[in-house]
Amino acid sequence: MADARDLRDEGERLGLDALRTLQLKRLRASLRHAYTHVPFYREAFDKAGLHPDDCRDLADLSRFPFTTKADLRENYPYGMFAVPREQVRRIHASSGTTGRPTVVGYTENDLSLWADLVARSIRAAGGRPGDTVHVAYGYGLFTGGLGAHYGAERLGCTVVPASGGMTSRQVRLIQDLRPGIIMVTPSYMLTLLDEFERQGVDPRGTSLRVGIFGAEPWTEAMRREIEERCAIDAVDIYGLSEVIGPGVAQECVETKDGLHVWEDHFYPEIVDPLTGEVLPEGEEGELVFTSLTKEAMPVIRYRTRDLTRLLPGTARVFRRMRKVTGRSDDMIVLRGVNLFPTQIEEIVLRTPGVAPHFQLRLTREGRLDALTVRAEARPDATPEDRDTAARAIAAAVKDGVGVSVAVEVVDPESLERSVGKLRRVVDLRPRG
Ligand code: DLL
Repeated sequence: MADARDLRDEGERLGLDALRTLQLKRLRASLRHAYTHVPFYREAFDKAGLHPDDCRDLADLSRFPFTTKADLRENYPYGMFAVPREQVRRIHASSGTTGRPTVVGYTENDLSLWADLVARSIRAAGGRPGDTVHVAYGYGLFTGGLGAHYGAERLGCTVVPASGGMTSRQVRLIQDLRPGIIMVTPSYMLTLLDEFERQGVDPRGTSLRVGIFGAEPWTEAMRREIEERCAIDAVDIYGLSEVIGPGVAQECVETKDGLHVWEDHFYPEIVDPLTGEVLPEGEEGELVFTSLTKEAMPVIRYRTRDLTRLLPGTARVFRRMRKVTGRSDDMIVLRGVNLFPTQIEEIVLRTPGVAPHFQLRLTREGRLDALTVRAEARPDATPEDRDTAARAIAAAVKDGVGVSVAVEVVDPESLERSVGKLRRVVDLRPRG
């Protein structure tokens, strides 16, 4: 049998020195491409007194200005494109729920690169040519469905383009078509697992062996929950539309120790979210990306608002990012204490008597914000079990996070189920 190492592509076989040399060469070209073809970047660089040629070293990138979501919005729809519209083969849009959407574009080469990188991701997750891949990420303007689709095809897999929704049909398809791999948000995977059980089918007995989960934050506790309930390897895939879509970083199935950033194409930095200063390797901060090879919409120092840390490579030469703690916008500040939904997820998932379904409700009492954790009882939980669970969750949040929250253990199946990206936080605070 072929050694898994033989399957690696050219980029994955680079040594560290060769990788850094390649990155610098590509970075300089990408800065020049953006400066020459996108008025926004030309103005921003000129204002900072910088020219692309001033980047002589990878560290010089930190002198260049950031790009934010607001910049993309202001240049909606095509202002950030670096090629004539006729060369753009595909448009996607980010899933932003507020304000103007942001659109992103791909040339033919960009689409091919994207397929290559998702293929690389699926391979790192344990997928092989000949596998059947069930894609339950939504198809459409969201990058999840089509991104996964073309990557799986590029790897040589059989793709089932199920998209999101019609949950009972998904369960049927998985039983009949016998995929080895599923690509879906972790929250929708939970919905699917519930549906298997509702239909009296043991999810541990399916053909699935690997789940490639992303598009929203999920924790180690969620990994254990999913792996145990359906006897698969659960690995993390990360990406965002502005950078390319899924396939920016991927966890390797053999190590499951964070996501290798495909940094031969996307150069990562971690910055202090407040000062913008670049932080040393290993420190937690905001992830920032510069595309090295994209044509239609290069991004220079794009602020993702995702909080994580960068660590050295292990299974691959590429640096790893830790599982994302959350987005800076999802951080809840409760009486001066910062709290992320992932912290509550860890606690709810280890509490007996409650299911892995929960919601966070933010309200205002007088001048203070209050948070209620609503967790679903397991079907077999007695009223006493529910009380015990509610007290245990409240105590664990107080101990672990350092803030008091209300906890309600609600009836089984009473919380809204995810069919894609789950909205964890319901903000009921008065506006303004
Ligand atoms: O969610 C792309 C994607 C699709 C990634 C399918 C993985 C799988 P957007 O809709 O632009 O793109 O949302 C990007 O989702 O900035 C993160 O906040 C969040 N996100 C994506 N992947 C992960 C992950 C797609 N693995 C935003 N862990 C990002 C945590 C993630 N958050």
